[in-house]
Amino acid sequence: MTDHATYLDAKRALDDRSLNRDVLDRFAAELPPDPEILEVGAGTATMVERLVDWGVIDGGRWVAVDAHADALAAGEDRIGSEVGDASGGVDVEFRVADAFEYASEAAAAGRQFDAVVGCAFFDVVDARPAVDALADVAPLAYAPITYDGETRFAPPDPDDEVVLDRYHRHMREFRPGGPDGAAALAREATVIAEGPSPWRIEPPYENGERVVLAHLLDTVEGAVAETGYDASDWADRRREALDAGRLRYEAANRDLLARLE
Ligand SMILES: C[S@@+](CC[C@H](N)C(=O)[O-])C[C@H]1O[C@@H](n2cnc3c(N)ncnc32)[C@H](O)[C@@H]1O
Repeated sequence: MTDHATYLDAKRALDDRSLNRDVLDRFAAELPPDPEILEVGAGTATMVERLVDWGVIDGGRWVAVDAHADALAAGEDRIGSEVGDASGGVDVEFRVADAFEYASEAAAAGRQFDAVVGCAFFDVVDARPAVDALADVAPLAYAPITYDGETRFAPPDPDDEVVLDRYHRHMREFRPGGPDGAAALAREATVIAEGPSPWRIEPPYENGERVVLAHLLDTVEGAVAETGYDASDWADRRREALDAGRLRYEAANRDLLARLE
């Protein structure tokens, strides 16, 4: 299976084209100059680079927190402690930690941020405690690429339904968060902007897309196995389609901008 950091870097271009620009524009409009931002579940820290590249931020401070030390180290190796041009740029701090422990320590120390960012994060955590913890350190959350309950592979396979049902069951019962991550966050916070950010991969595959698809097939197969169902034949057929350049994939995601209270 592809390691976590390689997968996260491979999905960067997919996120670039999937992000909902209206929600991002609203997020940009809410930020003060030189904002202080806490990124939870930062992975390889692609978001801070993206926001600088796209002109959303050009100064301030960004604290990238993730529990996965290797992913964060890959980000730190790539971008170092500053993103932007030599005359200024965004200072970046990397912290290997549980995001909610970090937030409660920061709150206890009196530290506040202008916003929390969590890309592809709010569906892997439980919404209520996440909102409670993060509201102590920031008034605003930008939650792009939050899973919205639907995955489809094509061409159709007779086992799709059972496999994808089990995949969602795994999200609900075997780890924090769940397939209704976007709806759960919308229930627990005050949404001020939202819009779809679907992931779509179709042949011919572009940069990194084979890596993303192979990783997703491994993830689905592994998750489904934990629920007690053997999806290896399904996964083998899907890998054959991938090798043959025929596999198509779509996942529903939602980008949310919410006030935390
Ligand atoms: C799907 S990845 C997304 C990474 C990155 N935001 C991106 O979009 O490329 C979710 C990340 O959240 C991290 N994560 C999940 N729960 C966490 C927690 N409670 N504290 C810190 N990191 C967490 C995982 O380690 C993982 O790197």
